[in-house]
Amino acid sequence: MKQAQLYLDRHFAVGETDDRLFGSFIEHLGRAVYGGIYQPGSPLSDERGFRRDVLALVRELNVPLVRYPGGNFVSGFCWEDSVGPAAERRAKPEAAWGVIESNQFGLNEFSTWAKAAGTSTMMAVNLATRGTLEAKNLLEYCNLPGGTYYSDLRCSHGFAAPHDIKLWCLGNEMDGPWQIGHKTAYEYGRLANETGRLMKMLCPEIELVACGSSSLDMPTFGAWESTVLDECYDTVDYLSMHQYYANHEKDTAEFLAASQGMDRFISQVVSLCDAAAARRHTTRKINLSFDEWNVWYHSAEADKKLERWCQAPHQLEDVYNFEDALLVGSMLITLLRHADRVKIACLAQLVNVIAPIMTSDTGAWRQTIFWPYYYASRYGRGRVMNTLVESPSYESKKYGDAAYLDAVFVENDADTLTLFAVNKDMDDDMTLCCDLRQYAGFRVAEHIVLTHDDRYAVNTEAAPDTVCPVNGGVSELKDGRLTARLGRHSWNMLRLVRAKAE
Ligand code: AHR
Repeated sequence: MKQAQLYLDRHFAVGETDDRLFGSFIEHLGRAVYGGIYQPGSPLSDERGFRRDVLALVRELNVPLVRYPGGNFVSGFCWEDSVGPAAERRAKPEAAWGVIESNQFGLNEFSTWAKAAGTSTMMAVNLATRGTLEAKNLLEYCNLPGGTYYSDLRCSHGFAAPHDIKLWCLGNEMDGPWQIGHKTAYEYGRLANETGRLMKMLCPEIELVACGSSSLDMPTFGAWESTVLDECYDTVDYLSMHQYYANHEKDTAEFLAASQGMDRFISQVVSLCDAAAARRHTTRKINLSFDEWNVWYHSAEADKKLERWCQAPHQLEDVYNFEDALLVGSMLITLLRHADRVKIACLAQLVNVIAPIMTSDTGAWRQTIFWPYYYASRYGRGRVMNTLVESPSYESKKYGDAAYLDAVFVENDADTLTLFAVNKDMDDDMTLCCDLRQYAGFRVAEHIVLTHDDRYAVNTEAAPDTVCPVNGGVSELKDGRLTARLGRHSWNMLRLVRAKAE
């Protein structure tokens, strides 16, 4: 059995988590909206057309923030098409994904849905085919109380109260050659600055996210961030990051090492932000919005065969297996370990499209990746501790030395502590030891484990609990020393509770 050690000191914290670290994403893409969150006429929907079963699962996830309406979709989006009486809205070709957008679900429906789901909106503006003025008009429509053309228009659409959206993305993946309206870093940085300035003149309380690179593998990575930040540093609050991982080669060890790549990506973007601050001689910090992250590859072949110009096709419908859940668990640990600088993160996406929640006309179910996301969102909030992980490791082709263990420790409050840990070893269990004598009076309340003998096992509508967590881990906290057995290929969550708090 392998041995690992976790060292921590309760005086040394990374920082408090921002609730928005557990966000997600709904794009007008595939069946995320139509047939996902919205299906009028379905017996599973309420009078507004919102799928009740999906709402219940989103609430279960306790999602603080949902990015909307894209993604690549936003680069061709005219927000005016999506408001007003539904019968008068125009269907349009949606070029980013090669489909038809009916516009039957739009901004106001989304705001209403977000309220029902207990979440908030992170709104993206189109800086690809539209510009500063349209972004300002959209903000005016959403956030001003009334008495101006666009805010009155909202009132006339039946929404007297402003949507009061606090967080705005200035475009999407503008570095990507696939993006409609793709720009050079300088073109985009200037536009982001001018648009952001006008938006903040209108509503100084909003926060803005500028586009960083679409992934660490972009040839322009680094130079893009530097140029964009030099143009808009004083205007924006966050820089975005996106990253998806795939296991095309069916090499599980290599695939699971990707959290190491994510960790390096975050550290490098932090450095790029701080270098831009240094060039400006400013103490103002730009933090990170990791607003698209996930595993994405299972649906690639099926998507190539899709007919163009249909509506709400089965697009990007990855069916996630057990090893995907392990990596998603590790990615969440990585995000938590950077909670000092990563303030916003969005699991991309939320329903049907590369998502933890799937639907059919007869029900909704949880994919494997639902579980690590659920537990991180429920129990990952609080003060993230600085932990030194001493673990055996292996050599990965792409990421170099990769630890078998990913782990993070969170003080949720004075009476509850949570440890998340992933053992990536496919063959061996691992004993994890941690000296917790500084936390007197705690006991292990539960040790939840997610594992499966078949790394390719999936959850389906017919068998939704094939990969399902159990409270059955073996761990002990004795004389202040924690010993946890982490089964081979397992995701684990230990919750420690102060005895008197029960
Ligand atoms: O999430 C799916 C797509 O991935 C988004 O539309 C785009 O931003 C990214 O490339």
